[in-house]
Amino acid sequence: MNILKEAKTFETISTELLVVGVTKHREQMQNWTSFSSFYGESLDMWVSAGDVSTELKKLTKLPFVKEHANLKRILFVGLDERKNLTEGDVRAAFGLVGKELRALKVKEYSIWLESFTTETISVTDVAFLAGEGIGLGYYSIPHYKTTSNEVDKRIEAVHLVTTAGDLDEVVAGFEVGVIYADAVNEARSLINLPPNLLTATDLANYAESLASEYNFEVEILGKAQLEELGMGGILSVNQGSYEEPRLITLKYKATDDFENPIGLVGKGVTYDTGGYSLKPKDSMVGMKGDMGGAAAVLGAMKIIGELRPNKNVVAVIGSTDNMVSDTAFKPDDVITTYSGKTVEVLNTDAEGRLVLADATTYAKQQGAASLIDVATLTGGVITALGMDKTGALSNDDEFFAAFMEAAGETDEFVWRMPLTESDKKRIRKSDVADLNNSPGRDGHMIFGGGFVGEFVGETPWIHLDIAGTSDAVAAHDLGPKGGTGVMVRTLANFVQRLGEEK
Ligand code: BES
Ligand code: ZN
Ligand code: ZN
Repeated sequence: MNILKEAKTFETISTELLVVGVTKHREQMQNWTSFSSFYGESLDMWVSAGDVSTELKKLTKLPFVKEHANLKRILFVGLDERKNLTEGDVRAAFGLVGKELRALKVKEYSIWLESFTTETISVTDVAFLAGEGIGLGYYSIPHYKTTSNEVDKRIEAVHLVTTAGDLDEVVAGFEVGVIYADAVNEARSLINLPPNLLTATDLANYAESLASEYNFEVEILGKAQLEELGMGGILSVNQGSYEEPRLITLKYKATDDFENPIGLVGKGVTYDTGGYSLKPKDSMVGMKGDMGGAAAVLGAMKIIGELRPNKNVVAVIGSTDNMVSDTAFKPDDVITTYSGKTVEVLNTDAEGRLVLADATTYAKQQGAASLIDVATLTGGVITALGMDKTGALSNDDEFFAAFMEAAGETDEFVWRMPLTESDKKRIRKSDVADLNNSPGRDGHMIFGGGFVGEFVGETPWIHLDIAGTSDAVAAHDLGPKGGTGVMVRTLANFVQRLGEEK
């Protein structure tokens, strides 16, 4: 999106479409009287009669009125009671606006920022939420239909209408919102790519392109190098595959000494058949999205590259597919991970934790002083929490509490699950190895993440299981069905906050 921003008042604006928030009690709205008298008495009447809805997130389009040749359409956004309005509501409402803008094929639009403010949501906040929400809602899934006649619907200009607030700050707020949305959308597109078009090599190429755009240090390890290092976790998952694995490392250096970087570790399984513990055919469909954790980390890195926070970051992604062939690993195999710990493979479909084991060990070796791993790891998290909540584990209450503040701000729901000593015992239960990769189906979200925890040690750590939240089965306020890019925004927001702490 190439966006121009100017500040104008609605009296002087010339626009295809003006976005206006409307609440039940319009008298509480700054400038409503001047706006309605500018537009004409009929406007107030329509709102009173309910023809312009004030119901939360309901959109009403008013057409072109001759007297207002410069203001062709108004898109009203219902906001219900202003005092109840949360940032999440405003973001979601702008998501729906984004969808409408795409449907209307507008090339230019304006937002009256003050009409969305509350006592706690400033004009700059609104600008940020608009940039982000509209950017997210506007996204559509790239497709391969030969009959497509999609025209270029790019938005060329946005006018931010405001008389309050520092204009530069407001414009910057909008721009940061757009940066967040663009990164999420790129993560979504990675998730939505078919597995024949996104292999581990392709994912590594994408990471390299990010590195050259944002000046990250990059290292891509191929099969031979992983063999040399003894990364038996990722290698055994890759063992049945024609496609080579990749261990991708990106470093964002806020300081030259690269002190205490946070490690972001992503599961990048580009296709999960289950291996010899083969998935039933209906559960296999959709497993192109098993690299959602990698997409979340790469999306967050894109925002970090754009905004350059004062916090060192090392991102490590383990990428491979999980296939069946005469060379594939098998249940009963005993493997040696990069850490030296041995694992009895009881289920080749519990492959993500094997990849993450090596990636986590590598991140620590690269200096990670804290760790967050993100993965579409278990169906168990869906059984426990549904499709709209990310499940978490952590070994550090303070670190987790700080992370939850970031998740609260981005409005991405995260719920922490317990990891007890008896859970750890079950992960360590094996007659032949240090660990087993599948202690059972009861509460198995905990075993998946807990397995990764075995490679973390004392380092403050958060595990995020996004198996439910990474792919949406239906369209939602902030986007279409398919890859959601969940955790891109929260990870980036968290790193930004850590950068501000110092
Ligand atoms: N990639 C799957 C988890 C998954 C399930 C992601 C549904 C997205 C939607 C993972 O590798 C897997 O197969 N997990 C197994 C673990 C089991 C074998 C212990 C599962 O959840 O059934
Ligand atoms: Zn699996
Ligand atoms: Zn998987």
